[in-house]
Amino acid sequence: MEQNDEKWMKEKRRKGGERRRPGGGRPPFVERRKGERRKNSSAMVPKEKKNLWKEKRVVFIGCGNMGSALISGILESGLISKDKVLVTDIRPKRLEYIREKEGVSTTEDNREAVEKSNVIVLAVKPQVIGRVLSEIKDVVTGDKVIISIAAGITTGFIEKALGKEVSVVRVMPNTPALVKTGASGLSPGKYAGEQEEAIAEQMMRRVGIVVKVPEEMLDAVTALSGSGPAYIFYIIESLIEAGMEMRLSEDDVRKLVGQTVLGAVRMVMDTGESPQVLRARVTSPGGTTEAALKYLEKKGFQKILITAVKEAAIRSKELSTG
Ligand SMILES: NC(=O)c1ccc[n+]([C@@H]2O[C@H](COP(=O)([O-])OP(=O)(O)OC[C@H]3O[C@@H](n4cnc5c(N)ncnc54)[C@H](OP(=O)(O)O)[C@@H]3O)[C@@H](O)[C@H]2O)c1
Repeated sequence: MEQNDEKWMKEKRRKGGERRRPGGGRPPFVERRKGERRKNSSAMVPKEKKNLWKEKRVVFIGCGNMGSALISGILESGLISKDKVLVTDIRPKRLEYIREKEGVSTTEDNREAVEKSNVIVLAVKPQVIGRVLSEIKDVVTGDKVIISIAAGITTGFIEKALGKEVSVVRVMPNTPALVKTGASGLSPGKYAGEQEEAIAEQMMRRVGIVVKVPEEMLDAVTALSGSGPAYIFYIIESLIEAGMEMRLSEDDVRKLVGQTVLGAVRMVMDTGESPQVLRARVTSPGGTTEAALKYLEKKGFQKILITAVKEAAIRSKELSTG
């Protein structure tokens, strides 16, 4: 960071607000969010007190990427013991893998598994959900909790398919759940109470953070955090490409880019400063960062990204309404 900026930022912090920058105006590219505070702003779910899974038996229907990540999360954290976890899949190889890895019981019989469990996690692809629900419909009783992670499948769809008043909690996770750094949106269905919501939330917390949102906001969550890792991967890819084009070695480029992205994210998470402020600190007038950011601004990069995310939300809505 260059001296001018440092002085300006110190002064800004001391005065507790925005002030004119030496040379006039706001720091380059530091924009405030326009518009009102979000009406539907979510609450980060508060810290849990009691393990609600103690008396539960759970079945995971579908043991692919997400299902197995969740199973590892709840077992490693001690939320539940392995003798209370049942897993189903149509691929015997997957069942063999999870049996060996986690020591859980498995079956290919969804109905039998549901009968034996009081929490049912639907972790199959969205296009399979309808088939699975009609298969288990008769054995789902009103005292069971259904947690669905299927993208775009509404709680209303599940309730209707099951044809009874059953607690359904819908969750939208993302792939970093595989490395226990996930970000999930959670919405309870019509018949789910606080307890059922908390059961789902306790599971998702084992693989990351959880925010509770009204169900209609899950399209926005899908667009932001569900698809979000891909946007960041895209940026990482582009930075790697830039480094290579400037003739750095691939090995060095990967190290530099990976650590830079990690460091930037840590600064946002750990300092509590806004990304705008952090960005201003590395952007000195006439400097290198400013040259790059000016170009991005001229090309409308931020607008493009915002529009792209909104496109994802539109697509999510289209998919969930068929
Ligand atoms: N992966 C993500 O990043 C992500 C993010 C957010 C939400 N989700 C949601 O999470 C759910 C699971 O995604 P995933 O990536 O883990 O999928 P996945 O890897 O395909 O896992 C689903 C597993 O369920 C099996 N299956 C298919 N039909 C079944 C049935 N009738 N009974 C039991 N098992 C059955 C599949 O077998 P086959 O492969 O033979 O079909 C597969 O092994 C999806 O609904 C997805 O929308 C995923």
